[in-house]
Amino acid sequence: MTQIISEINVIRETVKNWKQQGKTIGFVPTMGALHKGHESLMLKARSECDIVVVSIFVNPIQFAPNEDFDKYPRQLEADRQICENNGVDFVFAPTPQIMYSEGQENITKVVSPEIFQDKLCGKSRIGHFNGVATVVLKLFNIVQPDKAYFGQKDAQQLFIIKKMVRDLDVPVEIIGCPIIREESGLALSSRNTYLSEEQKIKALTLSKVLKKIESDYKAGNTNAKEILENAADILDNDACLEYLEALDTFSMGKTEILKCDTLIAIAAKIGTVRLIDNIIL
Ligand code: PAF
Repeated sequence: MTQIISEINVIRETVKNWKQQGKTIGFVPTMGALHKGHESLMLKARSECDIVVVSIFVNPIQFAPNEDFDKYPRQLEADRQICENNGVDFVFAPTPQIMYSEGQENITKVVSPEIFQDKLCGKSRIGHFNGVATVVLKLFNIVQPDKAYFGQKDAQQLFIIKKMVRDLDVPVEIIGCPIIREESGLALSSRNTYLSEEQKIKALTLSKVLKKIESDYKAGNTNAKEILENAADILDNDACLEYLEALDTFSMGKTEILKCDTLIAIAAKIGTVRLIDNIIL
């Protein structure tokens, strides 16, 4: 049975024992409300590492006061079961008091480079990526994994974490894993649980925009402005577009010419639900 550990010293001791036996540790950090996207990360970790640890922690310091921290879905026992079904060895599920024992206001934080914070989600979610980088570094220090698995859906998060690991010489290999979609094309997200059936249909238009861009690019058009403006028309009228951008995957700089490896990222609100999606050409 997959055990839930909430104490930092217990998970540390447990991992230390496994490491002393020469086992490799794969780590999947999550905020719970697990879905098939998370399961794909667990399975990848399972196939590459001896021991798999999943963390479930809704991290208060990555939510702005106007965001959905309080209503973010919490379902620890159901999540534990999903972890067990996917061969996870341990779930690390600390409380905010355990993670931020001296209070979350005055903790030392990781500051991700401003040039990346100012882009895409960073423009509207002020401080979000510092909160993510801080908790991820804390989790790495606690779990000390050999490899850590993140979804490509949060492309900017993945980019910032990879950069943090390089810049701060954190001894962990970061593995980015493909987006998992519903058959309809909707990218899986814990926040999809907020959507009504009608809103889900509207939400689908985000992936349709990306598909249109991909097919225009494949048809030979490489003019980013033209293709993006055209495709944006597909978005449901009730969706509020926050951004639709073409970026260089290596620098995260905006690009005017689409090419192989260009990241196309979109964020839009359906009602009050903010959704993101992306493709790499
Ligand atoms: O992607 C997430 O679920 C979160 O941002 C993460 C990486 C677990 C940090 O809280």
